[in-house]
Amino acid sequence: MTAKTMTATAPEKKIGPKIKTALPGPNAKRVLAGDQRLISPSYTRSYPLVAKSGRGIVVTDVDGNEFYDFSAGIAVTSTGHCHPEVVAAIQKQAAELIHMSGTDFYYESMVQLADRLSKIAPMPGPHKIYYGNSGAEAIECALKLARYHTKRPNIIAFFGAFHGRTMGALSLTASKPQQRRRFSPLMPGVTHVPYPDLYRGRPDAAQDSDAFALSCARFIEEKLFKTTLPPEEVAAIFVEPVQGEGGYVVAPTIFMQELRRICDRHGILLVLDEVQSGAGRTGKWWAVEHTGVEPDMICIAKGIASGMPLGITLTRSEIMDWVPGSHASTFGGNPICIAAALATLDVIEKEHLLDHSAEVGTHMLKRMSTWPTKLKLVGDVRGRGLRARSDRRARLRARRSVPRLRPQHHPPLPPAGSHKRGVGCCDGCPRRVHPASRKVIRACPVLPKPRAKPRGEAEGAGTVTLTLRPRPRSENGIHCSLRRNDIKFYFDFVLHLNRPTRDPYGSDAKAALLQRCGAAVVAIL
Ligand SMILES: Cc1ncc(COP(=O)(O)O)c(C=O)c1O
Repeated sequence: MTAKTMTATAPEKKIGPKIKTALPGPNAKRVLAGDQRLISPSYTRSYPLVAKSGRGIVVTDVDGNEFYDFSAGIAVTSTGHCHPEVVAAIQKQAAELIHMSGTDFYYESMVQLADRLSKIAPMPGPHKIYYGNSGAEAIECALKLARYHTKRPNIIAFFGAFHGRTMGALSLTASKPQQRRRFSPLMPGVTHVPYPDLYRGRPDAAQDSDAFALSCARFIEEKLFKTTLPPEEVAAIFVEPVQGEGGYVVAPTIFMQELRRICDRHGILLVLDEVQSGAGRTGKWWAVEHTGVEPDMICIAKGIASGMPLGITLTRSEIMDWVPGSHASTFGGNPICIAAALATLDVIEKEHLLDHSAEVGTHMLKRMSTWPTKLKLVGDVRGRGLRARSDRRARLRARRSVPRLRPQHHPPLPPAGSHKRGVGCCDGCPRRVHPASRKVIRACPVLPKPRAKPRGEAEGAGTVTLTLRPRPRSENGIHCSLRRNDIKFYFDFVLHLNRPTRDPYGSDAKAALLQRCGAAVVAIL
């Protein structure tokens, strides 16, 4: 058979999500029943996707349905699901040494990873590094260390912040009341102040954005320090350079610079929570690099190990001055997690994922920047690229830009099932718990480029070159498509509207998506 006839006769494999059963399928239903019976109801599932395997951006469920994952396991699987190099590193390490506890003994990879991270840290070295198991643990370490090092009791954090769910980290979190409800008393000594949310937080929309951002930072010095909080009793300011759970709100550079100035002036540590924004997601290793501000500590987790649990607190050396016994963890910096992190760094470097992330982010933002004027549903589109057009390397989060609903269009919560149209995993936002999520679409896909695969093979499909084409499809929805350059497939992001569609799953209502979280991602090929 000639190549020509092969091409003519071979059925072309369709690219994109493949939904074969009603959702959830029969196997998924079985798992969901068990989950309902046995698993903590505190988890915030967006919709009943029961994952079995993952590869690149594709997640296959227990019934063989394929989804496109636009959440990357809450911004974790940075190199894509099961990147072959990460898998190989994990397998090799598992065959060699699974656990030793760096608390009691030594192993070389702890130093190797520390060395690699030190080279890409956003502040000059020398550095020291602590290993934990999660984002919250990285924050807990930073909290304890800030108090230990400065011998001061108090901490400043921001409204809208999410720093984790353990008691210390939760005390800094100020995102949703449900996260704190009935858990008080939390850790004392935490004061929350306004974060410069230019879209939602500015009392007067006409106010200059820099002036507003400065006023948020200066509130600390001009109000707090002059009334309730003596500055010499403040150990640290904890801040996300881009608020994650808060709605992907980017801190303006001038705000970050002002925080740095306040910290320097009063001997306070500036602690950056880069748990979600770090490890390349913004087109630079760390989101704070877009501002040029140098922190005293950064907290790292999520994407750094492509899905293995690892939390890291990295500081300037002189800050980590605590003595043996002050802080430790049995599993923190487990050899397999460190192997995954080293492989992740290799993949990000080898596949130029920082540049790719920046490029795609800039492109997406450019395409979306007209939405607020064209579409009544969209109130704001944000991203770092907007602020630094001339700098080709700085730019956007890979989750990039966030269309937000105008407040008057907050949709009522529709019934579950947005995934039924096909794809994707969008940000998981709990129903009835997360009003902010009803206003925001967040997408944080994997970072990799598509590999040069023949048409038909979706393996390795990453975030790729996406073209967003917003086209209003109905009064109450947004329809836009994302096009991958080399393989044509289309995604439709549909945003739930301010009123439920009559038939939320009907074929006429492409706008049918959205379900529990009020925003969802579907793919329609
Ligand atoms: C910015 C930020 N900090 C801390 C955390 C807590 O991380 P973990 O869930 O790994 O404890 C999260 C989790 O979403 C986060 O987004």
